[in-house]
Amino acid sequence: MARVLDGAAVAAELRARVAVRAQELVAKGVSPRLEVILVGEDPASRVYVGAKARACQEVGVRSTTHALPATTSGDELAALIAALNADSDVDGILLQLPLPAPLDGRRFLDLIDPSKDVDGFHPFNVGLLQQGRPAFVPCTPGGVMELLDASGVALAGAQAVVVGRSEIVGKPMAALLLHRHATVTVCHSRTRDLPAVCRQADVLVAAVGKPALIGGDYIKPGAVVIDVGVNRVEDPQLVARLFPGDPARAAQLAKRGYTLVGDVDFAAAGAVAGAITPVPGGIGPLTIAGLLLNTVRAACRRRDLPC
Ligand code: GUN
Repeated sequence: MARVLDGAAVAAELRARVAVRAQELVAKGVSPRLEVILVGEDPASRVYVGAKARACQEVGVRSTTHALPATTSGDELAALIAALNADSDVDGILLQLPLPAPLDGRRFLDLIDPSKDVDGFHPFNVGLLQQGRPAFVPCTPGGVMELLDASGVALAGAQAVVVGRSEIVGKPMAALLLHRHATVTVCHSRTRDLPAVCRQADVLVAAVGKPALIGGDYIKPGAVVIDVGVNRVEDPQLVARLFPGDPARAAQLAKRGYTLVGDVDFAAAGAVAGAITPVPGGIGPLTIAGLLLNTVRAACRRRDLPC
């Protein structure tokens, strides 16, 4: 069985570092502040936003959540973003995605002041990342890099395969791996013979949102497998197949009506891989730590303080 990479432990260290930096800033009269915008009732988004707010509190970052109804108009959302852009006391603005239809996420991300864009999703910041001089590294791929580095994974010259080409994870992940001199392949729904391409990977990052897509036959022996997927699975038969003899999973499914499953079949892939991240407890905590880091960095940069 592969070594299980403990994302929660690496995230805890990162949060501790951020907390120290936040305290130093507060001593200088700067109190970092993050504003989170949540539109609509998406249950997963509510959970994520709650976790982000709690994490801010723990490290001494001020945060406010603007929970808006799904009926919010584009003009109302644009006006809120404009007000937060104009408020010099606000360091970071996070617009939780996805937005409910008919609101188009990209249109509103474009309105966020790039100096407060702690997600790194504004085209200005995306451009800087592509050029290898990021202002804000998107939180999830940034968290993956923290975990790879903390785990001593060599990237220069390695074959890296990223499954998924989203703006949030796949594309920035590929850029970050490329800047560290990996040879990067990005796969997507039109990729031919996905298992064969994945089997080339020394480092495989799965970010497609398809529960347990990546099985043992996708893995090169000894590979490092990073599972970014977080999928709600409600099918008892699938849960029984993925987690045979795991009473905790069965109990969770019975209690909540779902259990969280990554894009990787953990048992099957873990039997072949050299190292693997679990879901939950892998990349999720690092995403939140990355957001805290970006918020504190925004507070420094906006005042020309060293980060
Ligand atoms: N929805 C899923 N992941 C993210 C993220 O990292 N940032 C934002 N804003 N929304 C998300």
